Amino acid sequence: MIHTVGTDIVHVPSLAEQLSDRASAFAAQTFTHAELAYAQGASSGQPAQHLAARFAAKEATLKALDHAAALRQIDAPALAMTTIEVLRDERGRPLLALHGEASRFAESLGVERAQLSLSHDGDYAVAFVTIALTG
Ligand SMILES: CC(C)(COP(=O)(O)OP(=O)(O)OC[C@H]1O[C@@H](n2cnc3c(N)ncnc32)[C@H](O)[C@@H]1OP(=O)(O)O)[C@@H](O)C(=O)NCCC(=O)NCCS
Repeated sequence: MIHTVGTDIVHVPSLAEQLSDRASAFAAQTFTHAELAYAQGASSGQPAQHLAARFAAKEATLKALDHAAALRQIDAPALAMTTIEVLRDERGRPLLALHGEASRFAESLGVERAQLSLSHDGDYAVAFVTIALTG
């Protein structure tokens, strides 16, 4: 089994500013309905920190997939952010779900499993992704 990793850090106030621009399509182009609903309803009362972590997760996933593409010597396609989704299990652990083009690309790379960890504190949110590829 081969593993690749990706990580990303996001400044929460900068993301909040992008989200607050009502003329911008940023939120709809970046987050799924489920991600927006979770962030809006989270008990923290700070939706931007949850969305910043999810944005970091999407970028970290792109990095891990790009490393995998380099190993396989395949060109990585441009992926829409909404094709990479962060879901939660019954205990609140984050899960990665790939859709559409991201799912097809992962299949072409031989991705067996993708794992994600998130953290946020104050002004920053981080994500760490590992991808396991068939050998
Ligand atoms: C898991 C736990 C320690 C995280 O503590 P924390 O410092 O508040 O977490 P952070 O602020 O760094 O990160 C928050 C992210 O952790 C993730 N998370 C939450 N519960 C998690 C869990 N049980 N396992 C892994 N990740 C978890 C979520 O993605 C969350 O972000 P989100 O709400 O935006 O999705 C805390 O939720 C906890 O004590 N849970 C109950 C007990 C438990 O599950 N213990 C693990 C035993 S091995």
